[in-house]
Amino acid sequence: MKRRHFLKTTTQSLAGLMGLSSVSSARSLDASPPLPTISDKIDPHDEEFWSIVREHFPLTHDRIYLNTGGLGASPYVSIHALQSRIDELERISETGHSEELWHSIKKKAGKIFGCDPEEVAYTRNTTEGVNIVCNGLPLQKGDEIITSTHEHVGNTVAWLIRQKREGIVMKVFEPSMRSAQENIDRIEELITKKTRALSISHVTTATGQVLPVKEIGNLAKANNLWYFIDGAQSAGMMPLDVHDIGCHAYATSGHKWLIGPKGTGLLYVSKDMLDVIRAEWVGAYSNTGHFDMVTGEVHLNPTAQRYEYGTVSTPLFVGLGASIEFLLSIGMENVWGRVHAMGTALKKGLNDLGVEVLSPQHPDEQSSIITFRMKNVDRGDLQSFLWEEYKLRTRGIYEGGLNGIRISLHIYNSFNEVDKVLAAVDAAKKL
Ligand SMILES: Cc1ncc(COP(=O)(O)O)c(C=O)c1O
Repeated sequence: MKRRHFLKTTTQSLAGLMGLSSVSSARSLDASPPLPTISDKIDPHDEEFWSIVREHFPLTHDRIYLNTGGLGASPYVSIHALQSRIDELERISETGHSEELWHSIKKKAGKIFGCDPEEVAYTRNTTEGVNIVCNGLPLQKGDEIITSTHEHVGNTVAWLIRQKREGIVMKVFEPSMRSAQENIDRIEELITKKTRALSISHVTTATGQVLPVKEIGNLAKANNLWYFIDGAQSAGMMPLDVHDIGCHAYATSGHKWLIGPKGTGLLYVSKDMLDVIRAEWVGAYSNTGHFDMVTGEVHLNPTAQRYEYGTVSTPLFVGLGASIEFLLSIGMENVWGRVHAMGTALKKGLNDLGVEVLSPQHPDEQSSIITFRMKNVDRGDLQSFLWEEYKLRTRGIYEGGLNGIRISLHIYNSFNEVDKVLAAVDAAKKL
């Protein structure tokens, strides 16, 4: 059923592309075979299926792309949706914005988060979502916030600046690789009477560690804390249910695992937090109904749209909607099954090579991001070697002083590429 739906989606996009001579990728999409139609559950090792998925991306085969944690590659269907909407709108010089369009794409985003469309706001990236939450929370001098040492700069600077300017207090824990429980314990140890909020990544940028977000949610609830999750490395990689996790807000990027256009992001804010997380930057679209300069009457939008303001590029979000639909057509369980299996194979191979794997060994805490380092080899030298000799596009990890190399594996990667990474790392042992 799901495969059949996917086939329909890609066929529609193909038809659209054929009329678009300016898109250089049209030829390739025309040549990409439809996905076979079988069952709902797709075997992570079904190379025939996943190689067809790969053909839906213009991503070059001249190098091996292993940096989805930095930026995701978009499928033709998304690129076409974006480009054709730009073409269409530039001919008439209109924004293309409509409530209906906005809502229809938020319905898809809601399926990624596991929330209602009214709880979704569009942003430019994860960092913007972090800023909306960090600066919108009613925190006062002396209020404490708990976060980890493995956070990305995007979920760090906003809090640090608020600490510097307003005197909130950041408390940090070092994520433990030993057990999920140890992380819960480390957070619990930091909670005091002054603690107001938790801000952590679902999947850490540094090692791809999957933190026990639901259990941390229980802890937040028991201690009456606001709970924010940086989901830059999780949305689009795995199925999500933010209501079940029990977080108050969850930010992500459209341009990483969601494989959408660059410069897009999504922010979930639970309905009961809309009046708590103040909308600081507001304008057209944040308000609703009548406003009056004389009486001072003004009303914020009753949904998470209150965090959006002014003109934005609708083609970007149309493209994001197409990317999300592409992922949903495959099914987030299937995406997660595939990428997790590749992560497992890579981790096992690295372990066998005797390389130090910095990512968690426990399968429940591991994602499709695997970070490793080699004794006596500098991160920069290793990254250069992998690129120059093997054309592997990796990312160096300086966060938490780890000095490692990060490999991110998404649906356009393959077990064959995992083998190539392992061969390259084996060769690097001679460095
Ligand atoms: C965990 C995490 N948070 C935030 C960001 C920042 O994302 P963006 O540049 O889309 O704001 C990243 C980017 O890699 C990340 O890994």
